[in-house]
Amino acid sequence: MKVTVLGTGGGARAHIAKLAELGEEVHVGTRDVHATLARTEPDMMGTAPFKDFLAEHPGVELHSFGDAAAASDGLVINGIDGHNAVAALSAIADQLDGKTLIDYAVPFIYRHSPEHPWATPWGIMPKLDPCDSDSLGEQIQRALPRTRVVKSFVTQEQTTVVDPASVGGGDHTMFVAGDDPDAKQQATDLLKAYGWTDILDLGPLVCARGMEMYAHVHSAIGFGPGHQFGGHFGIKVVR
Ligand SMILES: NC(=O)c1ccc[n+]([C@@H]2O[C@H](COP(=O)([O-])OP(=O)(O)OC[C@H]3O[C@@H](n4cnc5c(N)ncnc54)[C@H](OP(=O)(O)O)[C@@H]3O)[C@@H](O)[C@H]2O)c1
Repeated sequence: MKVTVLGTGGGARAHIAKLAELGEEVHVGTRDVHATLARTEPDMMGTAPFKDFLAEHPGVELHSFGDAAAASDGLVINGIDGHNAVAALSAIADQLDGKTLIDYAVPFIYRHSPEHPWATPWGIMPKLDPCDSDSLGEQIQRALPRTRVVKSFVTQEQTTVVDPASVGGGDHTMFVAGDDPDAKQQATDLLKAYGWTDILDLGPLVCARGMEMYAHVHSAIGFGPGHQFGGHFGIKVVR
């Protein structure tokens, strides 16, 4: 398969590396190829320059967002920063026409001044926007009506998404939500290739609201006093 990952951040890199390991032809999208390759310093999260990552993954191709989307033969993963995803994806709607887009972005707003802040190890907990009565996944679907959007991955830390066996032997749950059954099957097949055995279909894309809001529970579990799990834990729906 020719699979496209839109984004060069830490989450995107986990998928790029795993897809390449699985033998897929991987195309990666960035805003400006020259600017991305020219970076020599780690970003504010300490993530190494993408050029270094590419050198360790020969065969992975870097393009503009639009060219990367066009290179996919059907499956695209969205790892564009949640606050900018709708605008960036809308600009390449034609290249995403008819394709399945698995969205794992979280619509976090990092700069805000809440009356009652929640302190985390990385600063004040970001707020979600949209939240509660809408979701980023639904916003993307409305902006791209000819693309089949599936929400997934977002309830797990990125390295666990691509290596579920690294936590509890893999006995935990991953979710998918979307309005197109065939697109959800594609996402499910990818998750199985990653090693997931418990994949729970939540139904329509409106359930992306629950997945995105789970980000706060994920932080509460991971960084609660005395837990020190970081992001390395799974959740299991017992039924
Ligand atoms: N397990 C999970 O589901 C999981 C894990 C990690 C992160 N996330 C979420 O997934 C999203 C991506 O996270 P990440 O850590 O991989 O990367 P990130 O650092 O949040 O985002 C990096 C990507 O966003 C693009 N970007 C930044 N500002 C932009 C703008 N103004 N216009 C267009 N594109 C822009 C960057 O483009 P360039 O390539 O040009 O720099 C880069 O490709 C976030 O919403 C994050 O919260 C989810």
